[in-house]
Amino acid sequence: MIAELNEKNLKDAAKVYMDSWKESHREICSSKFIEKHDINYMINFLEEKQKNGYMIFVCYNSENPLGIIGINPADEEICLLYVSPDEQGKGYGSKLLKFALSKCENPYITVLDTNMNAIDFYTKRGFVPAENQSENIGEKRIFERKYVYQNKNM
Ligand SMILES: CC(C)(COP(=O)(O)OP(=O)(O)OC[C@H]1O[C@@H](n2cnc3c(N)ncnc32)[C@H](O)[C@@H]1OP(=O)(O)O)[C@@H](O)C(=O)NCCC(=O)NCCS
Repeated sequence: MIAELNEKNLKDAAKVYMDSWKESHREICSSKFIEKHDINYMINFLEEKQKNGYMIFVCYNSENPLGIIGINPADEEICLLYVSPDEQGKGYGSKLLKFALSKCENPYITVLDTNMNAIDFYTKRGFVPAENQSENIGEKRIFERKYVYQNKNM
């Protein structure tokens, strides 16, 4: 089941986001920066995104929350795709992405150049790198690249 983020599932969504974000950023961020992303930080972050118009969805397996995804309707960025570390590789990310794609006309995503798992995941599902859209986002010269959705038959 995929449900829109609301007051009742906010904490569940923030927990999934925190666990997956920490796991995927551990190699590239300082431990101080990782620790800053506690449950309250993630709750505030998701609430702020929602206030700014983002649509955020939570995927459940019966009662258990295991993934989130966001869409910014203003420009159709698909973002915040995070699946709990223990639940990755079981098809939930694909399900969430398909769900988000069904709500967009010309979506795009951005992904860190170092995140090879995610790049592989998105490129296998119809995303291609946008020209000249790599952006330096941090102290360690980590680049974030934009990918646009091209294969609409997938
Ligand atoms: C990338 C991510 C959302 C994919 O979700 P998922 O539920 O693991 O994806 P699925 O099970 O539907 O698909 C698995 C596919 O992704 C690949 N994959 C990517 N990361 C994986 C991981 N950590 N574990 C297992 N498979 C992974 C698999 O090789 C598999 O390949 P396939 O394309 O040949 O099928 C998820 O691994 C995740 O949350 N990663 C950490 C957060 C992240 O990097 N998010 C993207 C930010 S831009």
